[in-house]
Amino acid sequence: MGKLVVGNLKMNLLSSDEREKYFELFKKEISGKRLGDCEIVLCPPFIHLEVFKKTLSKRTKIGAQNMFWEGSGSYTGEISGAMLKNFGCDYVIIGHSERRKYFCENNEEVNLKVQSAVKADLKPIICIGETRIEKETQQMLSVITKQLKKALEGVTRPKLENIVVAYEPVWAVGTDITPTAHEIMEAKVLIRKILVEGFGKKYAEKVPILYGGSVNSRTVKNLCNDPEMDGILVGRESLVPHEFIKIAEIISNSN
Ligand code: PGA
Repeated sequence: MGKLVVGNLKMNLLSSDEREKYFELFKKEISGKRLGDCEIVLCPPFIHLEVFKKTLSKRTKIGAQNMFWEGSGSYTGEISGAMLKNFGCDYVIIGHSERRKYFCENNEEVNLKVQSAVKADLKPIICIGETRIEKETQQMLSVITKQLKKALEGVTRPKLENIVVAYEPVWAVGTDITPTAHEIMEAKVLIRKILVEGFGKKYAEKVPILYGGSVNSRTVKNLCNDPEMDGILVGRESLVPHEFIKIAEIISNSN
């Protein structure tokens, strides 16, 4: 499978002027670049989704940063999977550590969102990862296991091919502190094992496992050294198209 390079733009691009500037730079950077069979996904704030879809070429897929699990109705301020799908989204990030931290999202809610995303024919990018304290107290493996197993409850085998898992140690997000390539592979091996045990090898192998947390063009080579890495989730650096596309180029050349 080709590598996935996902940009999480978070709560940025505050005006249409900023958005236009971003498009201008992004188009300039991506034009003529050989990215092999890399799939580029940009996840802007909800308010920009439709314009991103209309403005960027088919080469760039669009994702949301969150969704609600109900389909429609009296849920003030929420956005459903069907809405995202109808406005051109392919992907949706679910259970990002910032949502778990600031909005107290728990594993049960993450699971409801994953099920609803799959039903809406979206590809959920499920974020899992341990906090610093959990790492220091040797709980990394148990935390990941618990988060992933719960997130996937109710997902059927054929639907597994729409799932993406992102290992994002919370202590590495936005901190410029990164795990070693060995630690990332340890997490990846565990994630694959859980998938194989739950769904069988044939289905489990189809799930891309990404790494996320302080990825930039200088760190990406070490972080995703292993040909087994299926891709990355980039936060801050995705706001700088020059850097983001450079990261994608490095990943695509590591195939
Ligand atoms: P970062 O964010 O690249 O800024 O560390 C990663 C993420 O939030 O997915």
